[in-house]
Amino acid sequence: MKKAVFLATVLAFASCKKESQEPFGKSSESTTEASSEGESATVKTPVDLGKEIFEGRGNCTSCHQPDQKVIGPSIQEIAKIYKDKKGDIATFLKGNADPIVDPSQFAVMQTNFAITKEMSDEELKAIEAYINSYSK
Ligand code: HEC
Repeated sequence: MKKAVFLATVLAFASCKKESQEPFGKSSESTTEASSEGESATVKTPVDLGKEIFEGRGNCTSCHQPDQKVIGPSIQEIAKIYKDKKGDIATFLKGNADPIVDPSQFAVMQTNFAITKEMSDEELKAIEAYINSYSK
């Protein structure tokens, strides 16, 4: 009888311990997951944010590929010319600067100002940082 009580106690203790450890382990896991998703907006670098806008909401990728001309010049080319001429991409995207990459095709790019003019300075700077990340 005593032995049974002892066993039960041990078992109860063991199972209790196991229970109290498991949720802890799980919750710490899900906390890390949650923070990498939920707080990613604050942890994200400007280049990450810029890439996200460029490929997502901005839909820039449909005309601008990293290393080849599609409809618009490649991101590399834009980055290079803006670096050489010390241009300001954010100002251009606000519609406040003349085109310096391919002025003959400016009308095509101009249609996007409807989108980019709605963007915050932070978002435009992020796009600029993303494009500049391609300059060599
Ligand atoms: C419909 C096609 C198209 C889309 C979509 C597009 N672009 Fe362009 N983009 C062009 C063309 C064509 C040019 C070349 C004309 C020019 O240089 O202005 C250009 C040029 C540029 C330039 C260089 C401007 C300069 O100084 O000459 C930048 C910077 C740029 N695009 C950024 C963007 C960003 C950011 C987006 C997304 C918000 C975007 N583009 C979406 C077609 C497009």
